[in-house]
Amino acid sequence: MAILEVQNVSRRFGGLTAVSNVSFSVEKGEILGVIGPNGAGKTTLFSLISGFLPPNGGDVVFKGQSIVGQPPHRIAKRGLTRSFQVVQVFTDMTVLDAVTTAALLNHPMRAAIAKAEKVIDQVGLGHKALETPASLSLQDKKLLEVAKCVATEPELILLDEVMAGLTLAETQAPLKVIRDLRDAGMTFVMVEHVMPVIMSAADRMVVISFGQKVAEGSPAEIVADEKVREAYFGEEDLHD
Ligand SMILES: Nc1ncnc2c1ncn2[C@@H]1O[C@H](COP(=O)(O)OP(=O)(O)OP(=O)(O)O)[C@@H](O)[C@H]1O
Ligand SMILES: [Mg+2]
Repeated sequence: MAILEVQNVSRRFGGLTAVSNVSFSVEKGEILGVIGPNGAGKTTLFSLISGFLPPNGGDVVFKGQSIVGQPPHRIAKRGLTRSFQVVQVFTDMTVLDAVTTAALLNHPMRAAIAKAEKVIDQVGLGHKALETPASLSLQDKKLLEVAKCVATEPELILLDEVMAGLTLAETQAPLKVIRDLRDAGMTFVMVEHVMPVIMSAADRMVVISFGQKVAEGSPAEIVADEKVREAYFGEEDLHD
């Protein structure tokens, strides 16, 4: 059974239809990649799924129940969480504070701290727990974003460009964390522009262009799809 079903979801901003009648489903335990040009509607789609924006139409079904209209914290409590493309960093917090705050969704303070410590170790930031997020390298900031999601103990995580700005070598650590979590039963939907990363990480891909789903398939099928090349990449080679 699909853990998530996005059904004909649309969202308009004034005269602009940012997301137009998009449907897809996500199987439990898979990594679904979502790609598309800048402004295609990927982040808006994540906001619609996670309750940060209401859709103008359509439905979002998570674990068999519609979650449309529910606030983000209730959706997170049900097990669906997202990362933010634009990272907000509170300067007077440590890494441990930031992850503990996320863990407070499901635990009282003492247990939340213990949970946060465990997750920070899990993503490989154990030695940075008492540093401020602002002092972290970009790669570690990305790992912190993943840790904040994981600390809410979700079943499904939406990751919005968590690899952006990293070199291919630097993506290996966050990718391993994601794969290990998936092997432990977590499900991911990942928006990513770095093509080799998304191609190697994703089991299946959805392509969004001008708010619409233009293709869906395995990474190999997507690479070979002429429609995708035109809609998304223009003359670019997918392997670049
Ligand atoms: N709150 C908003 N109000 C008005 N327009 C918005 C709002 N959020 C997004 N848009 C517009 O909707 C469209 C889709 O934006 P969105 O951020 O979802 O794209 P994206 O695929 O995530 O792009 P990127 O790859 O650059 O992150 C864009 O034209 C954007 O300007
Ligand atoms: Mg975006």
